[in-house]
Amino acid sequence: MSANSSEDAAKLDATIAAMTDLEAAAELAVLAEKIAHHNQRYHGDDDPEISDAEFDGLMRYNSALEAAFPHLVLPNSPSQKVGAAPKAGFSKRRHAVPMLSLGNAFNDVDAHEFDARIRRFLKLDDAAELAYSVEPKIDGLSINLRYEAGALIEAVTRGDGAEGELVTANVKTIADIPHQLHGDCPEVVEVRGEIFMGKADFLALNAAQSEMGAKVFANPRNAAAGSLRQKDHSITASRALKFFAYAAGDMSSPVADTHSDFLKRLSAWGFVVNPLSITANGMNAALAQHQVIGDARADLDYDIDGVVYKVDRHDYQQRLGQVSRSPRWAIAHKFPAEKAETRLLDIDIQVGRTGALTPVARLEPVTVGGVVVSNATLHNEDYIVEKDIQIGDVVRIQRAGDVIPQVLAVVMEKRDNSQPFIFPDTCPICHSPAIRPEGEAVRRCTGGMTCPAQAVEGLKHFVSRDAFDIDGLGSTLVQELFDDEVIKSPADIFKLTAQKEMLMAREGWGEVSADNLINAINARRAIDLDRVIFALGIRQIGQATAKLLARHYGTIEALLSAASDAMDQDSKAWQDLTGIDQIGDSVAIDLVTFLNDDNNRQAIHDLLDEITPIAPEAVAEDSPVSGKTIVFTGTLMQMSRAEAKARAESLGAKVAGSVSGKTDLVIVGADAGSKARKAQELGVTILTEEEWLNLINGG
Ligand code: IVH
Repeated sequence: MSANSSEDAAKLDATIAAMTDLEAAAELAVLAEKIAHHNQRYHGDDDPEISDAEFDGLMRYNSALEAAFPHLVLPNSPSQKVGAAPKAGFSKRRHAVPMLSLGNAFNDVDAHEFDARIRRFLKLDDAAELAYSVEPKIDGLSINLRYEAGALIEAVTRGDGAEGELVTANVKTIADIPHQLHGDCPEVVEVRGEIFMGKADFLALNAAQSEMGAKVFANPRNAAAGSLRQKDHSITASRALKFFAYAAGDMSSPVADTHSDFLKRLSAWGFVVNPLSITANGMNAALAQHQVIGDARADLDYDIDGVVYKVDRHDYQQRLGQVSRSPRWAIAHKFPAEKAETRLLDIDIQVGRTGALTPVARLEPVTVGGVVVSNATLHNEDYIVEKDIQIGDVVRIQRAGDVIPQVLAVVMEKRDNSQPFIFPDTCPICHSPAIRPEGEAVRRCTGGMTCPAQAVEGLKHFVSRDAFDIDGLGSTLVQELFDDEVIKSPADIFKLTAQKEMLMAREGWGEVSADNLINAINARRAIDLDRVIFALGIRQIGQATAKLLARHYGTIEALLSAASDAMDQDSKAWQDLTGIDQIGDSVAIDLVTFLNDDNNRQAIHDLLDEITPIAPEAVAEDSPVSGKTIVFTGTLMQMSRAEAKARAESLGAKVAGSVSGKTDLVIVGADAGSKARKAQELGVTILTEEEWLNLINGG
């Protein structure tokens, strides 16, 4: 039962009014169980089964029943609890000040009622407008950051509101979260805010997860939660998590009279405060900002699910206090859910650059959050089986990250006449066998570069923004030139510069457009080596790994020769390759396999006839660590692991992932474990973070 519109709400009221005590008690018991279950799925498992709107509907039904039958409120009623109890695995911490939840408003009428309620409570003059802080409601997970004497000492998740999980080491890997506050601050400062993952980062993570056969996340919020709750904080560090600060917890002395001033203090201390936050004078001005934020929503790189209104004056907040689990001085004005139901007409299989067969849902067009959707991703073969998705089913879809819509679930009650989908075991494009290695989630076409789909996707990747980034040569033109058999391999792109006549003869082209394209291509003949490596489209070699390889090997020739030596896994070349921090066996195998394939080698040699890769900037040779091999272990306090690594590399050091006889220095942070012990055994020099900083800063 939901009550999104006032019509639904009226129906709900009528249903409740007709209920007996017995019926209401039974309903409340079922609701308590249902809500507890969905709370666990959402907060505990990061794997919700129902939409936020449906969950809100259950909560509203529960509140309405409790309001009508107050004597039946159960001791385990969901209205008495926030979220789920902390997950096992992390140690628990009680919050000095409980972390509350927010009540919801679903329309302007609800928002005006909230304003009226507060004004009555505060006995305000009718003419006086009440000032609100208006902020986007970020769809992530909230965290309490405790600073003592300006230093971050503890980070605790919300948990059930009273106690959460201690995730300090993981949180310290998030660049937006200062380890040390700037400027003056009270002895104890607790800052609260939202950890989240951007939409683009979410899509990239899911693509990588799916490629590796690992779990794909349903939405950026779950991806953020899953990334934060890692036992190994280096995994958290590798995920692009961000943070907006928006509230205070425990404070040893007050720092501002209004919330708006508090937000300014947060910025001054070094936090990121959401730029769409404003102070509005009166509810109408607040609603206008709700509109502004709603209009900006689709273009933001992070998910928001509403707008939060907070009474700006702290003395008013104090007077207003809280009711059960929410403050009386704040409310979340939700946006309509970006979900819809439609029919699955068919499932198409797309073949990607690495041969991965990806199922795509063809849908009866439907509007979701103002956009017509007719395709949605189904991730991979297992997803279809797990969710029991069949052709002809009515499915619930969501615009995840507002970009690529996804199929969430089948509406089973509406199933009739659906047909199971049989995942193909041959490539739909080149008909080569499509193989799914044991333990992997992805089935791949074995056609390699002879498969037209893989070839053209590879070329599209080659010209993409982070690769060769050739102005005017986008996916569509690449597809056309490929279909016309003008370009078959990367080198052919550079041969276009000698084919001006052919270009000018193309439909819609003239001399100017041909010249522009030729100039743009020529402009990329000298290009950074890491872009070249990334552009090759080797499985698991993203931008960051390409940079590492470029810095490590310096030239394509050196990389090719190392790759050929590394075919023997007992070789020094293999050890050297897998000794690079962040390059494990699986990445190394993909790299070596790709670079030793005859067709790929030929394509690279042809390409090198056309371009000149630029070696990475020479690193400092006179630094105290130049030429040294360094290993970082444990949690660093002054900078993130990624920063420390970049810094060391810029000083000419090699950063390795594990301690061996070749290691010169081991820098140990807090909670360092086996690597520090191994360094001791091997007699490798060990430095504390402090000593390390002194060494490189010449202190
Ligand atoms: S203020 C006492 N501000 O929404 C009020 N919360 O449903 C404390 N959230 O647990 C929260 N953006 O995780 C506040 N700008 C914002 C927010 C925000 C997202 C989340 C937060 C909170 C939940 C309440």
